[in-house]
Amino acid sequence: MTTSLPRPGRVRPRRLRSTTAMRRLTAETRLHPAELVLPLFVREGLTEARPIASMPGVLQHTRDSLKGAVSDAAAAGLGGVMLFAIPEVRDAVGSQATAPDGILNLAIADAVAEAGDALVVQADLCLDEFTDHGHCGVLTPAGAVDNDATLVRYAEMALAQAAAGAHLVGLSGMMDGQVGVVRDALDDAGHDQVAVLAYAAKYASAFYGPFRDAVESQLEGDRRTYQMDPANRREAAREVAIDIAEGADVVMVKPAMSYLDVLADVAAVSTVPVSAYQVSGEYAMIEAAAAHGWIERERAILESVLSIRRAGADHVLTYFATELAAWLAEEKS
Ligand code: PBG
Repeated sequence: MTTSLPRPGRVRPRRLRSTTAMRRLTAETRLHPAELVLPLFVREGLTEARPIASMPGVLQHTRDSLKGAVSDAAAAGLGGVMLFAIPEVRDAVGSQATAPDGILNLAIADAVAEAGDALVVQADLCLDEFTDHGHCGVLTPAGAVDNDATLVRYAEMALAQAAAGAHLVGLSGMMDGQVGVVRDALDDAGHDQVAVLAYAAKYASAFYGPFRDAVESQLEGDRRTYQMDPANRREAAREVAIDIAEGADVVMVKPAMSYLDVLADVAAVSTVPVSAYQVSGEYAMIEAAAAHGWIERERAILESVLSIRRAGADHVLTYFATELAAWLAEEKS
């Protein structure tokens, strides 16, 4: 007697996975260099670029080496660069953030001169790299982060960045009202074409650890009174709605990989492009595991960024951007 095989019938999803060509035809999500944004660090007073121990492959740039990185990013076809800067001198109000010759403002002008026609030059608009206490805003005498006094500094910072030529300012400080205040300040000064990216749903995350090394953060304590609680999903929709109402041109979810549910929610309701930030800790985890030979580096990078796109991000900020763009170009040829 012959045993009859089970018959799965006509429905065989594996058919569409059977060949490379079939998988290529049916892929629902693709990566393209134009949707990738490279975060870059520039440090005042360096004579040569310096490695960041917790972010292997990422550098604190000199003004000169930053230009090289921006030009490589443009050659790779990236959509943009996001600039962060580390000043030599910090103080309570973050004076160097608004000084026209402050390192971030100089770097913005350098990047615009280098590749401003090819990609979007974006600047981090936050005080934490510039304050001696490391918080994203100015403090009350009691030591709390003073929301409304900080907004005044953000407006001044936006004007300094716009004057330096920034195409887009990235508000990462999570102060209430920051988008509206910055939008008004830019418009009143005639900078109505400078775009505002709101870090709308930015969580108080452990995954920013390596970034704090990269910017030599002075922070003691944490940012839980202004960044979102990782427990919260509904609240992200509220933040996004507020930021869009205040005039945000792009909204962001950050970090990315532990927040793909939030990202999918935001992508479903946002009327403006949605960005997601694969942050320093996400980068470091992949690099560390790959360095041990525990995961395949290139596949893990591609899969991680693809998953962020699949969840709904239109743009991805990732430290892998230039390298990833080169792989995508190879794939095509
Ligand atoms: C604040 C800022 C942070 C990051 C981007 N902008 C740090 C923080 O909020 O503590 C983190 C980015 C990363 O981890 O890659 N200016």
